[in-house]
Amino acid sequence: NIKGFIFDLDGVLTDTAEFHYRSWQKLADEENLNFNRQINEQLRGVSRMQSLEIILAGQEVPTAQKKEWTDRKNEYYQEYLAELTKKNILDDMEAKLHQLKKAGYKLAVGSSSRNAKKVLKNLQISDLFDTISDGNSVERAKPAPDLFLHTAEVIGLEPAECVVLEDAESGVEAALAAGMIAVGIGPAERVGKAHLVYTSVSDIDFEEVLTKI
Ligand code: BG6
Ligand code: MG
Repeated sequence: NIKGFIFDLDGVLTDTAEFHYRSWQKLADEENLNFNRQINEQLRGVSRMQSLEIILAGQEVPTAQKKEWTDRKNEYYQEYLAELTKKNILDDMEAKLHQLKKAGYKLAVGSSSRNAKKVLKNLQISDLFDTISDGNSVERAKPAPDLFLHTAEVIGLEPAECVVLEDAESGVEAALAAGMIAVGIGPAERVGKAHLVYTSVSDIDFEEVLTKI
């Protein structure tokens, strides 16, 4: 019996996945690191430092250097965030959130991003959620189930009562590991392990989600 929905943020509620990509690309160009859109696909849902590790692909770099690079990437990303407004909410997500809330479901955000609260504030949808879990909420990042389990606990739901919406492979894995229903958004190569898959955010049909699972 589904009682709540936990939304990933970047790539599900808003198009910031593109800004993460551009910020990494800028850093990679400056530092001659091998990076492209294809490598970027592996960074969805992955924490900031772990993202750099994936880009480095085993290349050894001093810790202080890694810190400077991730800080710089975040500065570039925050430049995009400064311009973020309601217009950056993906498709009719806001209307869908209102409908779910009206129907009595608990709503939460479960994001790996340490910028999540700022993003939601700029999108002007923070108040819609019963709780917001972000990159500071737990130690172990997705694909560990910790972030989603923590989120369910805060809103007082059992894992099996929660549906997670995710655009990342690591996020779908985290939702499944948590014992929740996973709805994947994107190509099957990326989110195919989810219980239900939609190609894009605009295709999500919550009535169907609730009847099919
Ligand atoms: C996730 C994104 O939501 O947050 C990742 O999908 C990103 O691409 C991660 O690396 C961490 O974000 P931030 O804002 O803490 O650097
Ligand atoms: Mg995401």
